[in-house]
Amino acid sequence: LILGGSPSPFDIPKGCFGLTVTEVQHYTDSLFRFRITRPQEFRFRSGEFVMIGLPNAEKPVFRAYSVASPSWDEELEFYSIKVPDGPLTEHLQKIQPGDTVLMRKKPTGTLVNDALLPGKRVWMFSTGTGLAPFASLIRDPETYEKFETIVLVHGCRTAAELKYGEDLVASLRNAPLIGEMVDGHLFHYTTVTRENFDRQGRVTDLISSGKLFDDLGLARMGPEEDRAMICGSMAMLRDTKELCIEHGLTEGANNKPGEFVVERAFVD
Ligand code: A2P
Repeated sequence: LILGGSPSPFDIPKGCFGLTVTEVQHYTDSLFRFRITRPQEFRFRSGEFVMIGLPNAEKPVFRAYSVASPSWDEELEFYSIKVPDGPLTEHLQKIQPGDTVLMRKKPTGTLVNDALLPGKRVWMFSTGTGLAPFASLIRDPETYEKFETIVLVHGCRTAAELKYGEDLVASLRNAPLIGEMVDGHLFHYTTVTRENFDRQGRVTDLISSGKLFDDLGLARMGPEEDRAMICGSMAMLRDTKELCIEHGLTEGANNKPGEFVVERAFVD
């Protein structure tokens, strides 16, 4: 695998775009974000994911990545873990502006506004890089048209791992038009499990104890007014899904909108 330089058209497999890296930012030893150019013909719904790979390999390895940028953005952003010896991320973490990334042409996914029934509040429960689809949705005006209150809940092991989300929410609050839309409507609740922090504990424990709702001054979740989206590890999905069901919510899908939807944070 050779990184850098422009691949010849033969290095772009059929059904893929070869896109140029425009920006890379590293947060910790295990987390970074990158942005790539967006082909005009590429359409997706905020919250969906695509398959990402690198060129110049005989058989490129692809992994699912939620698009972290909103559907109106002229570039595409991704938020990634760096897996030691991970077949894709051990190389992907070394990309630089100007390099080429492969992206399969078809987006898909269930963490989209269309898969939820109308409601008053939407809860976005995430751990780790499970934040990515919500980074897209909280930047999409459609989310604010559909819900009066949006609560982005993000749980990580350490405070350093919260930075991508914190920076994003701060930039939204200060943005000229979006700032007004977000003001008083977007709540950002962060929690850490493996070091001292203002708020501590697993997202699931904060839901079951009710502390999450008390801290925010919001009523407990219920099927009449609340909708939820969940993205994290398999264990986190299972446990959070169970809590949504306990709170009376029913799972939905693209072809059958419901009260909550679930998707795995892929590269873990
Ligand atoms: P913990 O430190 O108690 O394992 P990971 O990096 O392993 O995906 O974890 C990201 C965050 O998700 C950590 O804060 C971790 O807490 C938490 N977590 C792990 N498993 C679950 C689960 N089943 N439900 C809720 N949170 C979880």
